[in-house]
Amino acid sequence: MNKRLLVTGGAGYIGTHTLVELIENGFSPVVLDNFSNSCPESIRRVEEITGSKIEVFEGDICSSSDLAAVFDHAKATGEIFDAVIHFAGLKAVGESVAQPLRYYETNVGGTLALLKAMDTYGVRNIVFSSSATVYGVPIRLPYDEGHPISPTNPYGWTKAISERVLEDWANTGEGRSAVCLRYFNPIGAHPSGRIGEDPRDTPNNLFPFITQVAVGKRPFLSVFGNDYDTVDGTGVRDYVHVVDLACGHVKAVEFGFTSEGFSAFNLGTGKGTSVLELKHAFEQATQAAVRHEFKARRPGDIAAAFASVQLAEQSLGWRAKKSIDDMCIDGWRWQSSNPDGYTAFAESADQRNT
Ligand code: NAD
Ligand code: UD1
Repeated sequence: MNKRLLVTGGAGYIGTHTLVELIENGFSPVVLDNFSNSCPESIRRVEEITGSKIEVFEGDICSSSDLAAVFDHAKATGEIFDAVIHFAGLKAVGESVAQPLRYYETNVGGTLALLKAMDTYGVRNIVFSSSATVYGVPIRLPYDEGHPISPTNPYGWTKAISERVLEDWANTGEGRSAVCLRYFNPIGAHPSGRIGEDPRDTPNNLFPFITQVAVGKRPFLSVFGNDYDTVDGTGVRDYVHVVDLACGHVKAVEFGFTSEGFSAFNLGTGKGTSVLELKHAFEQATQAAVRHEFKARRPGDIAAAFASVQLAEQSLGWRAKKSIDDMCIDGWRWQSSNPDGYTAFAESADQRNT
């Protein structure tokens, strides 16, 4: 029988792309999402791409009764989950500074509630969405997994604390496994153009901002700082195609089935790209123009960040394959064919439940 997975936050950007890869690799995912930053249409699109029906529970990872409902249902209808992939959480750095308790409650509290439910039902494997932001200001680059953990904002701390909780949970000698994936900068979209990133408000991140300027939703891109010690003075990051990232989750789940204890892996390409390089690559790949203006540095930003990718390659057998051009072309296909994201097509969660 196919391995059954619970995917929290499966309706979101990385979750939907991961569902596609999981299904294509023979897994049977079940989704738990409260649709606070997504909508059921994204799941419908995954069903369209894969030709598979996906079981979805609308509920909150912080609610023990919502969690019990999902685990009880799994138990009653066959096998309990073989593993959990835990994407659900809040992810806006600025918002986490303004509303730290909400972030700790959802990201740390939600992880605790989920682990308790897993213990109750005897589920011993988890793959967790962490972030390169746990490293904080680099003391060396590329960041290797042994780099000190020193986040600079509440969001980053919610990830670092959750990792710590997972490490202690996995190290009790009871056959548990926790695999933390420290994502660098996921961008792009599924090559079908049917699923992609759908920010609710003004995007905080560079790539969705570029695509929204290109599609005419925003007048220009503000480039935050052109006086960094980098190739052209603009910030350098490690952009990774979201489909490559999704494939990394398939490898991580498989790794978890054959390993015990805690592990953490960087998921990036190992290559740095500056803001202007990304903008230029996007314009070249898509023939869409992106006007830009230089602005002051964004508070809290660092000059450069990129991953050491050896550990993921050696242990997971995963390496990013797609190029910056692929990221631009696929991201643009999604944005240009869905200028308003999923909203134009979305039925509400209420409609879906009736
Ligand atoms: P996303 O917002 O698109 O997806 C998160 C999903 O979780 C959404 O569908 C949302 O509705 C759901 N959710 C939020 N709170 C919930 C709750 N309390 N209960 C149930 N569901 C809830 O975000 P994403 O970009 O897909 O990110 C997924 C994970 O990866 C997050 O944990 C994020 O912190 C982490 N991450 C993302 C990035 C990035 O650049 N996108 C980088 C590093 C780490
Ligand atoms: C941000 C988050 C980080 C998170 C990551 C991936 C902050 C401080 N950090 O990091 O926690 O893990 O996203 O989701 O928010 N830029 C512009 N103009 C823009 C937007 C960005 O010039 O409109 C520049 C930034 O200054 C930076 C680069 O583009 O140099 C990338 O920015 P962004 O996409 O926000 O990613 P990170 O800064 O890596």
